[in-house]
This record gives sequence, structure tokens and C-alpha cells, in this order.
Amino acid sequence: MNKMLTASLEWVDTRFPLTKMWNEHLAQYYAPKNFNVWYYFGSLALVLLVLQIITGIFLAVNYKPDAGLAFASVEYIMRDVDYGWLIRYMHSTGASFFFIVVYLHMFRALLYGSYKKPRELLWIIGMFIYMCLMAESFFGYLLPWGQMSFWGAQVIISLFGAIPYVGEDLAVWVRGDYVIGDATLNRFFVYHVVLVPMLLLVLAVVHIIALHEVGSNNPDGIEIKKNKDPKTGIPLDGIPFHPYYTVKDIVGVTVFAIIFCAVIFYAPEMGGYFLEHNNFFPADPMKTPEHISPSWYFTPFYAILRAVPDKFLGVIAMGGSIVVLFFLPWLDRSPVKSIRYKGWIFKLALSLFVVSFFGLAYLGMQAPTPMKTLFAQIFTIIYFAFFLLMPWYSKIDKTKPVPERVTD
Ligand code: HEM
Repeated sequence: MNKMLTASLEWVDTRFPLTKMWNEHLAQYYAPKNFNVWYYFGSLALVLLVLQIITGIFLAVNYKPDAGLAFASVEYIMRDVDYGWLIRYMHSTGASFFFIVVYLHMFRALLYGSYKKPRELLWIIGMFIYMCLMAESFFGYLLPWGQMSFWGAQVIISLFGAIPYVGEDLAVWVRGDYVIGDATLNRFFVYHVVLVPMLLLVLAVVHIIALHEVGSNNPDGIEIKKNKDPKTGIPLDGIPFHPYYTVKDIVGVTVFAIIFCAVIFYAPEMGGYFLEHNNFFPADPMKTPEHISPSWYFTPFYAILRAVPDKFLGVIAMGGSIVVLFFLPWLDRSPVKSIRYKGWIFKLALSLFVVSFFGLAYLGMQAPTPMKTLFAQIFTIIYFAFFLLMPWYSKIDKTKPVPERVTD
């Protein structure tokens, strides 16, 4: 049996670099030995990407991308298709968990300066993934053809109308009609099930290739490649990804699966945060809901949009709040990577940023009042100040000396 397997592997290896790839990316990929819990979220994001694609395929089998049939086809999946409710809740809960995981993954990069040289491109690829993820969930949200699907898309697409001269034409082009209708639903379906998932898959692979080219950062922000064993050339602070981190990641996936199942089985709508109440009513172009807000993961940016009194400038500010993240590798001028060795100014700035991000997320869910708008404006200023003042405060901040080798 063993002989047969070895022979088969040899047969494949002479035609495809299977063992070579296994070694390069797993068995002989040396990752820093001091990864902590923050390093679970990359592999969890991969798991979620696969889960969303698999559950999405099962949903698409019964879903109908037709304005007259879409809502009922989702109800059919929920009530009549065997385990249809489970598949749908896995997909809708999966979408929210994907964002939770990716936000934590990005925050880890902020904590340990993982975007800094030589990982700038890795960060930029990540930002493209993040933008695709936002597009993916936006397109997907229209598909159930509920009230929030319809009116949420209405609000976002009408933002294009704020662009001078070309805005209105652009909005018609995106919708495929003068109003959101069957043409919009059809194209959003294609983007959601074919175009963006393909982009996401390719980008995720490119992301891993870029990571393995430069090597992983770690909670100390030390480049382990600088300290290699002179005989073997293996980093002294590195351990093979397989079996050490594959086993560790299985622990992470297990804990994640327990939390994920608890939500699916006991709180799939999460009090209206994961599936909004209004979306259980079919789309009605004649009846505008009293309060329209996007899914929770968009609300920080929606709050920034509403904080600016002028619609066009609001759109610019909202776009700018995402675009600014691309420049992070060049905004941070600190000589050290990890927060462990940064000074109090960076720590304070990061804490204020976190408060403003959560504040904006909360305010974006609320109906606006003058007081809430004022708070949204203050948080918007803090949000942008964190990035735009970074070249200055990260330079004057007093850092601690970084040790030669990883500390734990
Ligand atoms: C589909 C979404 C994504 C997947 C599947 C994914 C996957 C991964 C994996 C498996 C790792 C290595 C393990 C780890 O460090 O946790 C990683 C590292 C990294 N990712 Fe992602 N990622 C995704 C999205 C993003 C986004 C949105 C960003 C940032 C904008 C990003 C930035 C990074 C950075 C900077 C690293 C290196 C971290 C370090 O070495 O300290 N990723 N990613």
C-alpha cells in the first residue's frame, strides 16, 4: 500500500510540483514561533471564504434572480428545501462573521505593524480583498429582494448621482434601469455568484503567495529571517508551519465553529444585526421604510457619509475613509513595527481610533439627530486624524529598544 502511494506521488511529482509546493508552503515554510491568538484570523478568513462559496452554491440551486420570484424563492429555501434554513443561515451568519474575522485580522496588522516594509504589497492586496468583500456583501444583500435589500441599494446607488455631470448617467448604468428593478437584480446576481467570488479567490491566493515571499511578521515585529542558523539556513525563531501551525489553526477553527453554531442555532438574525427585520417584507417601491441603514459592517462609513452636510463631499469623505487605509505603510514612520515597542502617543492614537470606529458604527445604525450628527462629526475628525497625523506623531513618539530575538 505504502509502495503504491509513494509510486503514485512520484508519478504526480514528475508531472506537477505537488511535493515541492507542499514543502514550500507548509512543511518547510518557517513561521515565527511566537504567534498568538491574533494569528488565527487569517486561516479563519480562508475557512469562511470556502464556507461562503459552498453554501452559496447550494443556495443558488434554488434561488431565482427575478424581481417577481426572488423573495418567494428565499422563503421556499427557508421552509420547503431540506435543510434550506440551515444553508441560508450559514450563509447570512457567515457574511457577518467574515467581516468580524477580517476586521480583527486587519486590526492585528495595526497592532503589530504588519503593513510596514517589506509587507506593503501584502497589505495593499489585503485592502483589495476588503473592497471586494464589501462589494460582494452589497450585491448579495439585494438578492432576497426584501424591503431593506431594495431601499439599501436605492440609497447607495443614488450616491453616484451626487457626482457632478456624470452622476445621474452613472447611476442609471449601475442599475441598468431608471429605477432598481429586474435588470439590477439580474446583474447583481451575476456579480455576486461569479465575478466577485472569482476575484476574491484569486486575490486570496495572491495574498498567500505574497505573504510567503516576505514571510510572516509576529507580535514582536522582528524579522526572523535576520537570524538564521548558519548551517541549515533555517530562521532560529522559526518553526515549520506544518505540523505546528496547522494543528494550532485546527484549535482556532474548532472554537470558531462552536461560536458559529451557537449563533446559527440560537440567534441567526442576531436581533436584526445579521438579518434585518424589515427584510422579511417583500420589496415595495411604493413604501419607503421609516429608517434605512446598511448592514452593521458598513455603518462606520455610512456615519461618515452622513456626518458631512454636503452630499458630494460626504461621498468623497466616505470613499476617502477607505482609500486612506491603502497608504498606511507610508503614513507610519515609526522605527519599530509592534505596538509592544511603540510609545504612548501611538497607543493613545490607536485607542482613540478604535473608540471613533465603534462610535461611528453605532451612530451609523441610528436615525440622525443634531446631537448624534455632532458626535459623528467629532468621530469622523478623529478617524481621519489618526491616519493623516500619523507621519508626525509616529515619528516623535518615543519607542522602546527592540530585542534581537522573539520574546515568547
Ligand atoms: C478573504 C480574506 C482574507 C484571507 C483569506 C486572508 C488570509 C491570510 C492568511 C492565511 C494570513 C496568514 C495568517 C495570519 O497572519 O493570520 C494572512 C496574513 C496577512 N493578511 Fe490577510 N487575509 C484576508 C484579508 C486581509 C485583509 C482585508 C487585509 C488588510 C487590509 C489583510 C492583511 C494581511 C497582512 C498584513 C498579513 C500579514 C500579517 C503578519 O504577518 O503579521 N488580509 N492573511
